[in-house]
Amino acid sequence: MMHSRIRTLEQYHVAYKQSIDDPDTFWGDIAEPFTWRRKWDKVRGGEFSPEGRSTWFEGARLNLTENCLDRHLAQRGNKLAIIFEPNDPKTRHLRLTYRELHEQTCQFANVLLKNGVKKGDRVIIYMPMIPQLAIAVLACARIGAVHSVVFAGFSATAIADRVNDAEAQVVLTADGLNRGAKQIPVKAVVDEALQNCPSVRRVIVVEHTGWPVQWQAGRDAWYHDEVKDVEKECPAAEMDAEDPLFILYTSGSTGKPKGVVHTQAGYMVWADFTFRNVFQVEENDVYWCTADIGWVTGHTYGLYGPLLAGSTSLMFEGVPTYPSPGRFWEVIDKHHVTIFYTAPTAIRSLMAAPIDHVLAYSLSSLRVLGSVGEPINEEAWHWYHQHVGKGRCPIVDTWWQTETGGIMISALAGITPSVPARAGLPLPGVHPVLLNQDGTEIEGNDQEGYLAIKDSWPGIIRTTWGDHERARQTYFTPYPGYYFTGDGARRDESGLYRIIGRVDDVINVSGHRFGTAEIENAINQSEYVVESAVVGYPHDVKGQGIYAYVICQNGVPTTDIDLQVTEASIIEAVVAEIGRIAKPDKIQIVSGLPKTRSGKIMRRILRKVAEGETSNLGDVSTLLDPLVVDEIVAGKR
Ligand code: WTA
Repeated sequence: MMHSRIRTLEQYHVAYKQSIDDPDTFWGDIAEPFTWRRKWDKVRGGEFSPEGRSTWFEGARLNLTENCLDRHLAQRGNKLAIIFEPNDPKTRHLRLTYRELHEQTCQFANVLLKNGVKKGDRVIIYMPMIPQLAIAVLACARIGAVHSVVFAGFSATAIADRVNDAEAQVVLTADGLNRGAKQIPVKAVVDEALQNCPSVRRVIVVEHTGWPVQWQAGRDAWYHDEVKDVEKECPAAEMDAEDPLFILYTSGSTGKPKGVVHTQAGYMVWADFTFRNVFQVEENDVYWCTADIGWVTGHTYGLYGPLLAGSTSLMFEGVPTYPSPGRFWEVIDKHHVTIFYTAPTAIRSLMAAPIDHVLAYSLSSLRVLGSVGEPINEEAWHWYHQHVGKGRCPIVDTWWQTETGGIMISALAGITPSVPARAGLPLPGVHPVLLNQDGTEIEGNDQEGYLAIKDSWPGIIRTTWGDHERARQTYFTPYPGYYFTGDGARRDESGLYRIIGRVDDVINVSGHRFGTAEIENAINQSEYVVESAVVGYPHDVKGQGIYAYVICQNGVPTTDIDLQVTEASIIEAVVAEIGRIAKPDKIQIVSGLPKTRSGKIMRRILRKVAEGETSNLGDVSTLLDPLVVDEIVAGKR
């Protein structure tokens, strides 16, 4: 119990040491205060190896929503669980107490049950950032259905891929959404997706924008009709510690996005422990994580973490720049937000706006600031610290991944060191190492290498849905005995970690992960395209931009019109396959790609050119046709 909340640097060191020396006792103590139907037989089990999978709290029985909701009713029944701030500041905001959230979760759960959803069934959720999204997710957890939230910015094809991979029978959606000035007919996107999804028998639609929708009788049902005659109580399903809780699709360096699977007990303990300690949460905090629930940050720190801790969490439907770049700051003042967690890309886009947008607000309620999703550059860190935090709020730069379930390396606010451009020290339970290319550990400080994790932690990915082999190949076989993160890192003179960025073929655009292969595959769907190669390049606001080198059927277009048509077709293909968020920033049509004699594309060269390098391109002598390099340099966009 003593480590469940760390309050001093000394306590951190003691907790850290115990968590590594005796993880079973450490995590057993931390897990104690949750609501369990049955306690575990074993804290840490399974195998942290390519052959097996980790387990945590094996034998325990529980329901996550009892821990998020029921557990708080006696003392926090009238406390706000969710404050909802809509896209349009003129629309009234909405507040839900723990009691109301409990009731609405039970009702939604009963609607799912009535529609034949059973424990273990997969439910795809494609919804705007509205309270019903949070409620839908919790309703799945209530009855033991496996939720898979798809960010409502992904295309119909992307939805169909996920529905089919998860073999989901039920989809939860809404009529439409407003995101800033954009309007997305969400239901229509789902309709299009489901033309290719034979497994889906039911679509439950929440009315949000009131826009007209097409209706497929027998398949589609309005939520407000379904909920009319259901009970306000719904018994929580008793789940096994290692039953799947959710699938979240995320991009890797090869193939289509994979379904990262998290389970019940370990994820719960990890979400709660990391949330309370990193942000140093107090009872009266108003906490705001700006991430959409469609991403892992929204899962762990928009929803589960805050609810497990009994906190008040703000949910925002809109975007940072609508109706003006002062919106975040206005919302913080309006709801007296004390802890604010956002992404460097948002900070950079707001830094670019006149400073008056920040100065117009007091921001005096703020106490802790967080950053997530990509490395935060020093300039953005200082701006955030000075103008948003007014020099008095600690910043936590939190490094983690969809696969890690929760924060792995970060300052604990105000307790462990917070240095610009450093994520900092590992959380208790996390044993990071730096590896050489050959897999040997690099000892000592002031060193750089591949970031890997040496032992299991409660929130570790359990498998990739329907394909355990893929999880093994991706995370455990590159360096046997370690979980491989795909990131490169530096351990500075004081032992603080600085994340450098991906060392694999993953691009991080505005904090969103895309595989180069995934984008190339989308580009190649254009009728004009023969072959493509995609790389990332430094981008002022997005962190990384997407640079696409494309070979077309008819060679390099010679007229502006041809060029425009071709580019439009390429962009359209990406928007259709993945979504607007993966649109290439730059397209260069080339007559050839730099390939070795064995046919491998030398991305190193493409990356350098995209970064603006013209001469030091390294050894090109092994290329099949070294002349293409000159052409590529000359045609750089
Ligand atoms: C990157 C998001 C530097 C990193 C939670 C990681 C970061 C990938 C940070 C995971 C950070 C995330 N500093 N880089 N604080 N946080 N990343 O799965 O490359 O969407 O591997 O999870 O984002 O992205 P994902």
